[in-house]
Amino acid sequence: MRRKPIPSAASHGSASDALVFFGASGDLAHKKIFPALYAMVKRGELTVPVVGVSFSGWSLDQLKGRMADGIEKFGGGIDDKRAFSRLSSLLRYVDGDYGDEGTFDLLKTALNGATRPTHYLAIPPDLFTTVIRGLAAVGLTDDARITIEKPFGHDLASARRLNRVAHSFFPESAIMRIDHFLGKEAIENIVYFRFANSFLEPVWNRAHVASIQITLAEAFGVQGRGGFYETTGCLRDVIQNHLLQIVALLAMEPPSAMRSDAIRNEKAKVLQAIRPLKSDQLIRGQFNGYRSEPGVAKDSDVETYCALRLQVDSWRWAGVPFYLRSGKCLAETAAEVLVRFKAPPQRLFADFANAGERSNYLRFRLQPGSAIAMGARVKRVGKELVGHQRELYLQDDHPGEEPPYERLLADALAGDATQFAREDAVEAAWAAVDPVLRDHQPVLPYRPGSWGPAAARDLIAADGGWHNPVLSQSGAEPYSN
Ligand code: BG6
Repeated sequence: MRRKPIPSAASHGSASDALVFFGASGDLAHKKIFPALYAMVKRGELTVPVVGVSFSGWSLDQLKGRMADGIEKFGGGIDDKRAFSRLSSLLRYVDGDYGDEGTFDLLKTALNGATRPTHYLAIPPDLFTTVIRGLAAVGLTDDARITIEKPFGHDLASARRLNRVAHSFFPESAIMRIDHFLGKEAIENIVYFRFANSFLEPVWNRAHVASIQITLAEAFGVQGRGGFYETTGCLRDVIQNHLLQIVALLAMEPPSAMRSDAIRNEKAKVLQAIRPLKSDQLIRGQFNGYRSEPGVAKDSDVETYCALRLQVDSWRWAGVPFYLRSGKCLAETAAEVLVRFKAPPQRLFADFANAGERSNYLRFRLQPGSAIAMGARVKRVGKELVGHQRELYLQDDHPGEEPPYERLLADALAGDATQFAREDAVEAAWAAVDPVLRDHQPVLPYRPGSWGPAAARDLIAADGGWHNPVLSQSGAEPYSN
């Protein structure tokens, strides 16, 4: 195949005139993409043709049936029949093998002269290269954008290979690597909260912060995705992407302006400063029962839980440990960040024995809902100078919040890359975890409904232990260590 010159980045600020999505009969389309498209049509944000592509032998009517079902089950139902019929009239369908050039000829016909499509690859990663080359072979990469689902690569080497293929046909500004956590309000608020307030900056560094921990806990298992999980595992599924992106937002320097590249430069610098992990910084767990899931090997060593300690080698964060953990079948479904501050230099009060546990902290509840809490000690009523830990609690739920896929698909169509992962950031995140993808201890079993293997507690014992998010938590006593 002859390579054409890659269009200039300048042509990529303009709105797309069609959305193509590969994987139209898949799970992601059913649960997330169709509900997002419907909501975008309701808001008037989607007016361009939408072409679904898959290799399932379906007809357009079958795809419409699947779309209606997805909106009913996962998008809150069809409450606006006119919007649904508008979306139906925008929908087209191409059925074919991604390895067959004829499929891309059919796609070209279905695009009916659209010249600036966004191609969204909601397909397994081993098909990304085939589809990109297929698009290029029929000239459908010129002036187009590509939106790629995670996982972007399987390790550092494969991410680099994939980036090379994508860059053969698209400039970086036209490549949108989706990490749907970046489309969540509570996560975007980390950046806003950090840089819209002045009180934080003087203490947001190694002189005052003792440790930072992030928990992404899920009370459910692999939900029928055993086959996928066997090739992925928790480290690749959520740590390399979602959790490291949160680290970048927490640790980045202020950008020179709220411009896409300025923000992405600062995030990339954090990820590049993460010291590559060693096996003694990682605990891998597997919930009891995982090996009986369909598609899972009877002797599987794939982790459904990870806890790790990492170091950001920057001026601001030298010596401050970052603890990350995530797992399936844990005690709650919640995501939180806890930033622990150092204890006061003098222990003046008798109740101040366990300084690590009792220091000030900032807690970001990322989901469900959105909250920021500041932990501080307050004197109890009485003659004694003893106190207890209380929280200043800001709850900020967003009833009208756009789910991440609506937000990100609209951004991709508009050509705004701010909330997408850039090449250097993705590669740096892989570089941080790459050594332990292969060099690691065997998985440790844990009981479903627990907080993971006991060994994970030792990892953070010196820094006050894990904070387990509690869903009913409000302004009362905050800890459940
Ligand atoms: C996905 C992972 O990227 O993120 C899933 O593949 C995980 O395993 C999910 O459950 C968590 O995202 P959310 O938005 O549902 O919390």
